[in-house]
Amino acid sequence: MLIVGCTSQSSNGSNSQNNVEVNSIMTTNYTIDDVTLNSGYKMPVLGLGTWTLSDSESETCVYEAIKVGYRLIDTARYYGNEVGVGRGVRKAIDDGIVKREEIFVTSKIMLSNYNSPDKAIDDSINALNIGYIDLMLIHQPGYRDEEVYKALERAVKAGKVHSIGISNYYTPQDFERINKIAEIVPAVVQNENHPFYQNTELQNYLKQYGTVVESWYPFGGRGNTKDLFNNETIKQIAAAYNKTSAQIILRWHLQAGYITVPGSKNLAHIAENFNIFDFELTESEMQAMAKLNKKRRFENW
Ligand SMILES: NC(=O)c1ccc[n+]([C@@H]2O[C@H](COP(=O)([O-])OP(=O)(O)OC[C@H]3O[C@@H](n4cnc5c(N)ncnc54)[C@H](OP(=O)(O)O)[C@@H]3O)[C@@H](O)[C@H]2O)c1
Repeated sequence: MLIVGCTSQSSNGSNSQNNVEVNSIMTTNYTIDDVTLNSGYKMPVLGLGTWTLSDSESETCVYEAIKVGYRLIDTARYYGNEVGVGRGVRKAIDDGIVKREEIFVTSKIMLSNYNSPDKAIDDSINALNIGYIDLMLIHQPGYRDEEVYKALERAVKAGKVHSIGISNYYTPQDFERINKIAEIVPAVVQNENHPFYQNTELQNYLKQYGTVVESWYPFGGRGNTKDLFNNETIKQIAAAYNKTSAQIILRWHLQAGYITVPGSKNLAHIAENFNIFDFELTESEMQAMAKLNKKRRFENW
């Protein structure tokens, strides 16, 4: 197994422990295959994103992705496809391809449910119908999001959810607003992140907590991918390895220490995006990718 990041022991994610051990053991145990979250659970570093996939597309794509080797699936209440994602996972389990404990499913509480977060968690669990949820996130900052985080903590204590985190919190200050009321330190911050928008400041800040950044829009999102795919630096590196721009970008995400969940409803792309474990970007290629940072986001939420 190729080790590409910090390797010291992670903690159990409790804030009381953070207070004494934050500088000594709270780093990230990250390998190219998975990361040990500060909750103690392992999370695969490459998964399938399902935004814009219907229930039936999700069922097929999730099932086929699991056959290819994917073990991480990203959904959300907002996507309206938790039922399909759950069906795809259950089919893979029923067919003996994986066991439930080998699959890692993320969902998110959507803004319009922030008034009833405990019910929102139960609704997602019922829709997915795969028992517990591996990782549940607050989808975005909003009114009562601190209360929403408390509901996530209750779900962890009740065994309904294994790990919890937040999404679309971009600065250390944004993170600390939730973290300071938290009993359980967020395990993951899922944000827009790609070669044109590399939020290394947040990533570096979070290392003290063993909190990992997960990239959404690894390719810039639907409608924007040509900007990244046609970038000359990325194309040159791709040619050198006989890989596609998509594969180089994903390899960069992993070697830069991010989890990522490229979205696709194309089975050839799904297979291509997982075929990135047979090569490694050099230090100078990683530096060239780092220079692509334009602090340019494609969305504004
Ligand atoms: N937390 C949040 O607020 C948030 C926001 C946005 C997204 N997300 C999550 O992050 C995931 C990723 O974002 P995204 O799906 O919106 O954008 P993305 O992964 O950056 O890009 C998806 C686009 O790339 C294309 N694509 C995928 N693989 C390709 C390949 N190998 N070659 C050529 N084109 C390829 C897809 O088309 P095809 O379908 O044709 O392959 C689609 O048009 C989402 O699915 C969702 O799970 C989270």
